[in-house]
Amino acid sequence: MSAALRVEGRAPFVAGSAVPGDKSITHRAFLLSALAARPVRIEGALRAADTRSSLAAIEALGSAVRQGASGVVEIAPAPWRPPADAIDCGNSGTTMRLLSGLLAATPGEVVLTGDESLRRRPMRRITRPLEQMGASIESHAGCAPLRVRGGPLREGTRHRLEVASAQVKSAILLAALRAGVGVALHEPGPARDHTERMLAAAGRAVRRNNDGWLELDAGPATLALPATLVVPGDLSSAAFLFVAAAITAGRVRVPGVGINPTRAGVLEALRRAGARVVVEAAGEMAGEPVATVTVEGGELRPFELAGDEVVRSIDELPALAVLAAVAPGCSEIRDAAELRVKESDRIAGICAGLSAFGAAIEERPDGFVVRGGRKLRGATVDPRGDHRLAMAFAVAGLAARGETHVRDAECIDVSFPGFGERVGAVTQEGER
Ligand code: S3P
Repeated sequence: MSAALRVEGRAPFVAGSAVPGDKSITHRAFLLSALAARPVRIEGALRAADTRSSLAAIEALGSAVRQGASGVVEIAPAPWRPPADAIDCGNSGTTMRLLSGLLAATPGEVVLTGDESLRRRPMRRITRPLEQMGASIESHAGCAPLRVRGGPLREGTRHRLEVASAQVKSAILLAALRAGVGVALHEPGPARDHTERMLAAAGRAVRRNNDGWLELDAGPATLALPATLVVPGDLSSAAFLFVAAAITAGRVRVPGVGINPTRAGVLEALRRAGARVVVEAAGEMAGEPVATVTVEGGELRPFELAGDEVVRSIDELPALAVLAAVAPGCSEIRDAAELRVKESDRIAGICAGLSAFGAAIEERPDGFVVRGGRKLRGATVDPRGDHRLAMAFAVAGLAARGETHVRDAECIDVSFPGFGERVGAVTQEGER
């Protein structure tokens, strides 16, 4: 059943509560707990379509999973046996790529598939290094379904990554970990380091040597994870609320949100665009820095993002594009060609969607240029099945004159169930 979100332009947007658990960290908590020597209790996990894909996958492989009513998930050690049926990773690139790493070192053959969007996404970036390590993976012209034949892997392979991708980095690290072999890799930019942090919490620190190479030593294939992992709130989800506050002269306060520096580029971009951002540190969860973050609208100005800043805000660029459309002046996002191979071609989707709102946005091969400051007008927009485009357009609707309809908005459940209510939108069931 498809559902549209109806949003009315209204200002200012004011909100103040926690956001659901971090998607990237929840995936890792589930997948790494399957390797733990003792049961692990996971609190604050994201319960959304993407993370359900990871949980269902490890369950299909044999892990003992118990889900409590309060959202606590317990995962107990159990040997993995390749299931007869293909494992469906749904829309989740993180599930498919990280799990491929684990399966590369698991004896037997498993087929990984996913929805239409996931079956279009590039997988050579993981199949090549995993094959170099000794696994055999059949793909369909570099895309899923993937048939992974796993087994013992080679000691000490070295990998120079072509893209700054945490999913690729993690697939390699997890393959080596499960095979009990050492590995080294070099990343061209600072991809998020959640896997390294969780491995460090399990006593398996990944070293960074002087030449910038990451090294994991050979060691046991099981992990000594803490008995309880608490997942922080997802900064990528909070980003939509922050931008809503910034563009409507509003105020949003989110407690317990992760501010890992490899992810927190959005906060710098908001500041640079003129929003007031206050970060009150609140300790650590699962080895990740956590804070209460408050964002208030200010006098907006244009901003540019390029290079490493793009890597550190890659999932927030749809939201930041909306900020650029409202901030008067010329903003530019460069070096973001990776956006074309996310859940959809986000450069094309952002440009088409924001143009429908009357924004002056120009598509570039690796980003876009926005001449912001025109008053947006409510529009009917197609998020192309992409959760982050759907949320970005709903946020644009908050700053637009008149009504906005975001079609097929059920895709938002991939990462942020309850988003519609949080921004005061009305869900219209059965409408596209
Ligand atoms: C993720 C890594 C990023 C990010 C994705 C989640 C992860 O992708 O865009 O939403 O959890 O490792 P890439 O590794 O492709 O850059």
